[in-house]
Amino acid sequence: MTFKELEARLKELESLPSMKGNSSIPKALEEAGFSRRDFMKWAGAMTAFLALPASFAPMVARAAELTDRVPVIWLHMAECTGCSESLLRSDTPTIDSLIFDYISLEYHETVMAASGWQAEENLESAIEKYKGNYFLMVEGGIPFGDTENYLTIGPYAKTGRQIATEACNNAKAILAIGTCSSFGGIQAAHPNPSNAKPLHKITNKEVINVPGCPPSEKNIVGNVLQFLLFGKPALDVYNRPKWAYGLRIHDLCERRGHFDAGEFVEHFGDEGAKNGYCLYKMGCKGPYTFNNCSRERFNQHTSWPIQSGHGCIGCSEPNFWDTMQPFEKPLASHQFNSVFGSLGSDSMADKIGIGVLCLTGVAIAAHAAIATMKKGNEE
Ligand code: SF4
Ligand code: F3S
Repeated sequence: MTFKELEARLKELESLPSMKGNSSIPKALEEAGFSRRDFMKWAGAMTAFLALPASFAPMVARAAELTDRVPVIWLHMAECTGCSESLLRSDTPTIDSLIFDYISLEYHETVMAASGWQAEENLESAIEKYKGNYFLMVEGGIPFGDTENYLTIGPYAKTGRQIATEACNNAKAILAIGTCSSFGGIQAAHPNPSNAKPLHKITNKEVINVPGCPPSEKNIVGNVLQFLLFGKPALDVYNRPKWAYGLRIHDLCERRGHFDAGEFVEHFGDEGAKNGYCLYKMGCKGPYTFNNCSRERFNQHTSWPIQSGHGCIGCSEPNFWDTMQPFEKPLASHQFNSVFGSLGSDSMADKIGIGVLCLTGVAIAAHAAIATMKKGNEE
């Protein structure tokens, strides 16, 4: 998209009425103790995060200021609310959480005051009022079929499937927030007693998946901003935005040099662990997991699973509860359907990790092979 097209898009958003009355981002920032400089710094970081050139920062700032022009409906299905918590429960208010407060959230069970009849009425009237114009964000897996009534919500005991289908039918854009909504999550893990399904299985409309257990606060807010600025993002084979899920955890991991050098933690708490060696032999699934945690981390860039000393468990991949087990051991010989297809990248990485630990050259060659496969996959 050119600068001119972006300008036209922002102007179009500006022409829509604000849904926050006399509130505004500058006012909300001031009340929360943030300066304009803090906000522009945040916009600069968000621009880099969205993989845009630095010159786009003022446009990203403007898009953030216009997040009240598009109504958002956020539904909770079968889940733990961890995705909302990822965004809302930081130790201090962040600019991400403030933007989220500022978004015109027409319905969100965790943060709204209404309950019971009033809540159900709020949802129905928001769907009716903003028909065809709202962003729908859904958290949680959805029980389906004969066991659909394992999830009922509200005084009329509507099933989650009924509520989500109706909300999808009338939405402008649909984002599945978190692994449960994107791929079924732990609800859909074997033996899946409620026959839980991901959102895209219960609607025939396109769903953009923002997986993670939970996704970072930046991936949630970043996807809203990305949509406001550019519309539908480029997606990978699992409908994940490529700007966020285009690289493996392993590609930018801070322990990567140790992987290439064959330096591994052998037991939690050993000398290798103290030295920050690679966690592959402790079960790290970073080589098969596509997400930006190694670049962006969590809680305002504070830390992330591998920095804290545990391997990645592959939480943004489909069916990871079943396919990535055992979490604290390498995947040994079984093949895993990654975005490379069923090419046995696991067994290749295992050979690096276990068979030829000291052969740095082999590790690099294997990495080059995986990179070539990925390139081939993208072409
Ligand atoms: Fe990092 Fe895990 Fe890759 Fe090791 S295997 S470099 S800990 S992502
Ligand atoms: Fe999940 Fe792995 Fe990131 S476990 S949070 S994708 S480091």
